[in-house]
Amino acid sequence: MHILLVASAFNSLTQRVLAELQDRGHTAGIVLALGDDEALREAVRQHAPALVIAPMLTTAIPEDVWRAHTCLIVHPGPPGDRGPSSLDRTLQGGVDSWGVTVLEAVAEMDAGDVWAWSPLKVPPQAGKSDLYRGEVADAAVDAVLLAVERFASGTYKPKRQKAADLAAGWRPFMKQAERRIDWATQTTESVLQHLRAADSQPGVLDELRGASWYLHGGHAEDELRGAPGELIATRAGAVCRATVDGAVWLTQLRPWREPGSGLPSYKLPAVEALGARLPAGLPEVPAPLELPAGRRTWSDIRYREHGPVGVLNFSFAGGAMSTAQCRRLLAAYRFACTRPTSVLVLGGLRDFFSNGIHLNVIEAASDPAEESWANIHAMNDLVEAVLTTTDRLTVAALGGNAAAGGVMLALAADEVWCRDGVVLNPHYKLMGLHGSEYWTYSLPRRVGADEAARLTQSALPVSAKRAVALGLAQRVLQAAPEELGDEVGRLAAQLAASPDLAARLADKQAARAHDEAAKPLQAYRDEELAHMRRNFFDPAEPHAALRSAFVRKEKAQHTPAHLAALGLPR
Ligand code: COA
Repeated sequence: MHILLVASAFNSLTQRVLAELQDRGHTAGIVLALGDDEALREAVRQHAPALVIAPMLTTAIPEDVWRAHTCLIVHPGPPGDRGPSSLDRTLQGGVDSWGVTVLEAVAEMDAGDVWAWSPLKVPPQAGKSDLYRGEVADAAVDAVLLAVERFASGTYKPKRQKAADLAAGWRPFMKQAERRIDWATQTTESVLQHLRAADSQPGVLDELRGASWYLHGGHAEDELRGAPGELIATRAGAVCRATVDGAVWLTQLRPWREPGSGLPSYKLPAVEALGARLPAGLPEVPAPLELPAGRRTWSDIRYREHGPVGVLNFSFAGGAMSTAQCRRLLAAYRFACTRPTSVLVLGGLRDFFSNGIHLNVIEAASDPAEESWANIHAMNDLVEAVLTTTDRLTVAALGGNAAAGGVMLALAADEVWCRDGVVLNPHYKLMGLHGSEYWTYSLPRRVGADEAARLTQSALPVSAKRAVALGLAQRVLQAAPEELGDEVGRLAAQLAASPDLAARLADKQAARAHDEAAKPLQAYRDEELAHMRRNFFDPAEPHAALRSAFVRKEKAQHTPAHLAALGLPR
């Protein structure tokens, strides 16, 4: 079937729906709904789709379009739920099960007939965007695929929603007033519900150290204590803030700006955002890499060991890895390599694996080109350490998506395992970068030179299943986001116990020695960095403007050409 996707942005769910439809043999086109109804109509005319699907749409589809074509809308709520802040209200309300519905577009928002829906379990600790990219995306894909099947049958009659239910189900947009945290009275659990309901967008607006900020992140702390609302510690760029009965970690802050001030407002690690406003003498409380069982605190890097298997978990907001984060992860990786294990797993947590260098931290630096340079070196040092580990097998376990240098970090491992539903974006082109992280070595080695060129030039997402078919990944893991860790542990233990482990290690050592003799890793790095230097430092290069637009979340003006061409005859 030829399906046209209409979306407000080519976001994670839209990418995943596209990839999953293609995996099942459908062809699909994309048009971004950016307020120009004529452009949308033109795309519909060009594609003449059998079906229109809107995986993530914040505006209405024009009436003439939904009257002429069946248009299916994905709503992140079960049948009967309506409104633009569904997940926010659900998380702030603290429910443990939810759903996603696919319904037909009609004049009234979320009021059309129901084609399919899928239930989901709300995990206890995830923030809204994490939930959206995990359980919600899984349920949305199930419901979309069922709806497509039902539509294709030609006989399915979607279920009408009753007028009384429609009136009862409407829940309005959630304003900051409802998100407000009262630090003098709210418990840690209640504060966390507010923070998670607003994470990663829009954050909770609050006062802190004499300025207004949107608070991001939200993780419980079980030991540190202080006066409610006060900052009491820092750790790895995050700040710890006391509540009435405990404390929470805030990982990022975004400054509030007077509307129309023209001042930029984007997220930064909390310590960096506060800068001179940080109270003097605030203790930096490092988290032990191996956290004792039973502790409830936040850290972005952890190491665990089960017999011959080491697991290096890491989780960075938005998958972005700053110079400091890369260096800390490299130190942890080096520690893990001193341990007597035969399999070392990197990742293994839900949500983003990595999206490469930290564009926000770079943008905020006094010299962004120099900071880009430091960041890419730090990232390359990490990737090199993985590539040159020859005394044990390494596995990159992706619970969530990866892009650009984050994909190449995964490819440095011997095996790449992706949770079903993961989307990879193995390209740098949209950010105006040649790319580094030894991709010119890793990518062709896995998929061949022609496919490597196609992947990097087409700049399109790749599903987990297709990644395995291409040779980018070795395994698709059938596990819910919350169950990924256990599944990875089980498979890693099997790998460590496999009788051919010694032979595989010997092969790996020989292959690395052979490749190094043919062309040293340093030569790949030097060649890539010669391009990257120009990308970062030459004012005529497009990267700085692309980075700035990305960080500031500037809306696209039209559907990018590489997406507009998708699904149309060449
Ligand atoms: N640096 C800083 N922040 C990043 C980032 C990066 N490299 N990659 C993603 N993020 C942030 C986004 O700003 C966004 O923040 P928010 O939660 O505050 O809105 C969040 O991570 C999720 O990204 P988003 O773009 O909304 O998700 P998506 O699923 O629609 O798209 C990507 C995912 C990876 C395709 C897109 O984020 C991207 O192109 N990132 C840049 C990749 C890159 O070029 N890296 C540098 C070269 S190595």
